[in-house]
Amino acid sequence: MLTVFSPAKINLFLRVLGKRSDGYHEISSLFQTVDLGDTLHIQLSDQDELTCTDETIPTDASNLILKAIHLFRQKTGVESKFKVHLNKSIPIQAGLGGGSSNAASTLWALNELTKSRIPLYELQNWSAAIGSDVPFFFSHGTAYCTGRGEVIYPLSPLVPPATAWVVKPKHIALSTPEMYKSLQAHPFQEEQSGHRQDLNYLLSGILEYVNDFERPAFSAKPELMRLKASLMQGGFETVLMTGSGSAFFCLGQGQMPQIDHLSVFPVHFIHRGLSGWYQKATIG
Ligand code: C5P
Repeated sequence: MLTVFSPAKINLFLRVLGKRSDGYHEISSLFQTVDLGDTLHIQLSDQDELTCTDETIPTDASNLILKAIHLFRQKTGVESKFKVHLNKSIPIQAGLGGGSSNAASTLWALNELTKSRIPLYELQNWSAAIGSDVPFFFSHGTAYCTGRGEVIYPLSPLVPPATAWVVKPKHIALSTPEMYKSLQAHPFQEEQSGHRQDLNYLLSGILEYVNDFERPAFSAKPELMRLKASLMQGGFETVLMTGSGSAFFCLGQGQMPQIDHLSVFPVHFIHRGLSGWYQKATIG
């Protein structure tokens, strides 16, 4: 049995540069792993089986963990079956990449369990077939991501904020495909040089906290705009929605507002070591 940590991610900035002919959107984003995460218990078994502590999460073939198992078998020719128990802590439909992280952690664990010795860059390449956000988790925890999210430029660890929080309104969940669709109501600022410019800014230490999904999310769910305003009034230096929402992250010192139905998680930025996978305690 292997127990693996599966971290959430936040997007320190996320710009959508345009719609592509394949239906995906071209993005420009800085991804960072945090120590809010799930735990996966994976073992060899005589049949595939997925169980989860959260009964609202589908454990059928639509779950990215099972997609990762199928992909691994298909690519390696390994015939083993696996039993997986998912201890869920990352809120879903939150923009925190929980499902994508679970898929990446599963691929890493299967490689170990079956002693297949597939290089991580290969697992990373394969993983783009599961979802656009999966390859990021094979970086070391900080990366600039472009394309549909799967083109990864690994970056050195950032100077971590003294305090950081992830905040999720319990009753608001947003679907990524829906949010991408609703972006089309807003004109894109087509920027051919957007990637290079963003990466250059990052490399020279300039980081603009912006998320292009805030506008459509706020028009779909005005409560989210009010939540952001309350968090900013609390004095945090930065308050930004992550991914396609509905969670926010707050950086710096501040007072958490007393609002009902809010899940609040203190978080740290984390990184994976040179070899090995993410661990809850690996703060960097
Ligand atoms: O890649 P993934 O399966 O996670 O994407 C889910 C959906 O989100 C896609 O089918 C697409 O509608 C939308 N998407 C997009 N542009 C991206 C990533 C996702 O339009 N860069």
